[in-house]
Amino acid sequence: MEKLYLRAFPLLVTILLFPHLLQSQGCLSRQPPRPMVFTPHDRSDADPQQVHISLAGKDHIRVSWVTDTKDSKSIVEYGETPGKYNALATGEHTSYKYFFYSSGEIHHVKIGPLKPSTTYFYRCGDSGPEFSFRTPPSGFPIEFAVAGDLGQTEWTASTLAHVDSEDYDVFLLPGDLSYADFQQPLWDSFGRLVEPYATRRPWMVTEGNHEIEIFPIIHHHGFTSYNARWLMPYEESGSTSNLYYSFDVAGTHVIMLGSYADFDAKSSQYKWLKADLAQVDRKKTPWMVVLLHAPWYNTNTAHQGEGDSMRKSMEELLYTARVDVVFSGHVHAYERFTRVYNNEENQCGPLYVTIGDGGNREGLALTFKDPASPLSLFREASFGHGRLRMVNETHAHWSWQRNNDSNAVVADQVWFESLSASKACWNVDDQGLPSSHKEEL
Ligand SMILES: [Fe+2]
Repeated sequence: MEKLYLRAFPLLVTILLFPHLLQSQGCLSRQPPRPMVFTPHDRSDADPQQVHISLAGKDHIRVSWVTDTKDSKSIVEYGETPGKYNALATGEHTSYKYFFYSSGEIHHVKIGPLKPSTTYFYRCGDSGPEFSFRTPPSGFPIEFAVAGDLGQTEWTASTLAHVDSEDYDVFLLPGDLSYADFQQPLWDSFGRLVEPYATRRPWMVTEGNHEIEIFPIIHHHGFTSYNARWLMPYEESGSTSNLYYSFDVAGTHVIMLGSYADFDAKSSQYKWLKADLAQVDRKKTPWMVVLLHAPWYNTNTAHQGEGDSMRKSMEELLYTARVDVVFSGHVHAYERFTRVYNNEENQCGPLYVTIGDGGNREGLALTFKDPASPLSLFREASFGHGRLRMVNETHAHWSWQRNNDSNAVVADQVWFESLSASKACWNVDDQGLPSSHKEEL
């Protein structure tokens, strides 16, 4: 027995230290995880770092950054010519403590009104380098880059480089940003890693499980770092929580839901979602896109069923509103479904896409259930990102690119039509049921 233990000990140590080796058995062609990238702080304490921008209500952008010094000004100077700033906005700043860690000063400044499709040059806090961004267009076409579960590894850097290699307007992230997992300096490192990208295009994010960071007894409030650093336009969209919100951009209404906020019919999130959906004018925003973290439809063996209770609570709201697409993350793989409602193909339901393959340190979710569900049209465990291009009011193109391929290679793609233009999905009979639903009964 003792000899057996001694022989097994090196194997046990190997499995504990390199769990991905176990995951890769039988799938040696799959990409293994790559090392973490720690992005160091190479500016002065007073200079802005971790600069990123987000959409903040009609014609406005929020600029967010961190300074090590506490007396740095929360101001942004901006204009359409490099080095010439004819506008200035003042905002607010905050900070937080997490165990022995004290954050820098986190600044948020809203600027605008801004013109669409226009490049602005800006400087934060009266100090440091000049940055520039381009505002989204006022109408079609508009292109979203989509990647979830990013983390900060060499794969993350690869994903971001792929995203950056072709133009786009807005970045969408369905949860799990830094994978700091209680180590707060990793939130700072993540902010510095994404700064070259997130200073140039709006980054719109929602929370994943890695943003929760509740530590028993020591820190019992969730989302402390996430809420302080990644302030999203929740107040601008009538929400009372940074964990769920919506925004309009170029004919598209985007709803960011919170998989880790209450979602039952009595919850604030549910009531807010219902009210938000009710005020959407599909003539102004023919497209409706929803992002959330834990997928409602998933044929990977990882995280099976974790989105079920949220789906059961909220799916009917999205279906009745004729949401076009639902993106999720959490599962570290790519999967595209057909249009679905209540576990069945339904041409008036949303397309479902899992895009949790951004490149974090946990690696890929390698195993899919067999046989494949007929609802699942494409599935693959490779790192990559997606692009959603709304070409006009009625037609959009979705594509997925692997990091291992050149940028010109599209691994999966589909054209689809907006449900706002579908007569069949809006014809309502005497009982209030859409005609497509009636046919199923
Ligand atoms: Fe997750």
